Order: sequence, then structure tokens, then C-alpha cells
Amino acid sequence: MHRNTLLWSDLKRVPPSFPRLLRALAGLMALGALTAGPASAAQPTQADKQAEQLAATVCASCHGTDGRSSVASFPDLAAQRPDYLEAQIKAFRDQSRADPDAQAYMWGMAAQVNDAVAHALAEHYAAQHAAAGVRGDPRLLAQGRQIYQRGVPALGVPPCSACHGDQAQGMGAMPRLAGQHAPYIVKQILVIQRVLREAPVMHGVIRDLTRPQIEAVATYLQSIGPGA
Ligand code: HEC
Ligand code: HEC
Repeated sequence: MHRNTLLWSDLKRVPPSFPRLLRALAGLMALGALTAGPASAAQPTQADKQAEQLAATVCASCHGTDGRSSVASFPDLAAQRPDYLEAQIKAFRDQSRADPDAQAYMWGMAAQVNDAVAHALAEHYAAQHAAAGVRGDPRLLAQGRQIYQRGVPALGVPPCSACHGDQAQGMGAMPRLAGQHAPYIVKQILVIQRVLREAPVMHGVIRDLTRPQIEAVATYLQSIGPGA
């Protein structure tokens, strides 16, 4: 799409490796030298500004700049479904997502976030581009793909794709799983099985997955994404 005006959303797309460019554009924006576009689409609200600042100064230290984390126990947030992200921030805040890592890392983080900022943070991360896929053991990967697409009929486990989408891209409030760190996925399935994390729909469907099956499906999911 070609436009001759610069929108706030364009600023967010400037890679962080160009801090001087970003500062210059932000300066021009502040002077009103660049149009901010239609108010509904582009005018950043107070909550948007707070979210941008939180993301850059606080969340980035664990989830990576732009939500692509380099530590396996810190989930990628980039390209995640916005409604899912918002729901999770609120679940940490009301302490209903209560596994030990959630308590240790996220309860304090979410406590300072009001509804408007939670929404803005969710929109911010949903708009970032997805992390690259990471290929793992080919045998596990093939087994994991089978479980993901077909389920495990003998154990009454339905295909994951029915809810998480064919490409694991997520749907509505159901999370994207594509490209997510395998160790994070394994851990979440285990905590959901043990009901340390309340996820009533998921709990029922994955209750009987075995540990090797969980590892296989996580290996497959981590492999999906650009560059894999
Ligand atoms: C000190 C490290 C740390 C910081 C800082 C941090 N997080 Fe997290 N975050 C984590 C960990 C660890 C998890 C996984 C918790 C678990 O295993 O349940 C997580 C999980 C999440 C999730 C759930 C993702 C999913 O796929 O379910 C969201 C959303 C999230 N964080 C948002 C944020 C936001 C927004 C901020 C900034 C306000 C932030 N985090 C700051 C460590 C951190
Ligand atoms: C009936 C729909 C449904 C099916 C089938 C399903 N899921 Fe889910 N899944 C969900 C929902 C809803 C959530 C979000 C739970 C929440 O809100 O905390 C979720 C969450 C997850 C999460 C946590 C993601 C994160 O970022 O923390 C993982 C991992 C996951 N599912 C893996 C799977 C796998 C693997 C399968 C197949 C074996 C599967 N799911 C099948 C509905 C489903």
C-alpha cells in the first residue's frame, strides 16, 4: 500500500537497530510535522504510549525486543493472538494463572497493568512479526506433526489443529503455537495437565498425552515459522 503520510503504526515498524531514525521520527511526530493519520486508527492514546514504554523498558528484558525471546522459558509474544494475550495478562493479574513461573515472573509484572494498557500491550505484540521456526529431531518432528494434525484417537486426544489452526496460527482467543519455544510448550502442557493453570477446554483434551508425545508435538510446533 502506498501512502504519502506517516502513521504512528509505521513508527512502530522501524527496527530498533535504527534508534536514531526512530528518535528523529518521534521528534518530528511530536512537533506535529508529520500527520498522525485518522484519529481512530493512528492517534496513540495514553495507554498506547504507556504500553510502548513498558514493552521497551520492562517486558523486553525477558520477552525480547518486539516479543521474540531468546530464552526458552520466556515465551515469544510476537504475532500472538491479541485476545489471547490480553486474557493472559489479566489471568496473571487476577492470579488465576498460577504455576510457579507465572507467580515468580508475571504476577508482579501484570499487577501494574490496567485494562487499557493490557489491551494496548496485546495489540502491540500481536502486530510484531513471528519468530523464525527452529528445526529439531526429524523423527520427533514427524511424530509431532501427526499428533498435531490427527490427534491420538486411542487416547481420545483430538487434533490440536481443530482449535489452534492448521498452521498453528491460533484462532480468536486460542493461542498461536507456531514457532514457540519447545520447552515452554512442554511446560505449559504439563501445568495444564496438573491444573496449575486453569484451561478447562485444554485440560480435557490433553489430559492423557504422554511425556514423549508432548515432547514430539512441541518439537513440531517449534519448527513452524519463517526460515525453518
Ligand atoms: C522477569 C522476566 C519477565 C518479564 C520482565 C516479563 N515477563 Fe511475561 N513471562 C515471563 C515468563 C517466565 C512467562 C511464562 C510463565 C509461565 O510459565 O506460566 C511469561 C509469560 C507471559 C505471557 C503469556 C504468554 C503465553 O503464551 O501464554 C504474557 C502475555 C506475558 N508474559 C506478557 C508480559 C508483558 C506484557 C510484560 C511487561 C509488562 C512481561 N510479560 C514481562 C517472564 C517475564
Ligand atoms: C478444544 C480446543 C483445543 C484443542 C483441541 C487443543 N487446545 Fe490447546 N488451547 C486451547 C485453549 C482455549 C487454550 C488457552 C487456554 C487459556 O486460556 O489459558 C490453549 C492453550 C494451549 C497451550 C498454551 C499456549 C501458551 O502460549 O501458553 C498449549 C501449549 C496448547 N494449547 C497445546 C495444545 C496441543 C499440543 C493440542 C493437541 C494435543 C491442543 N492444544 C489442543 C484449546 C485447545
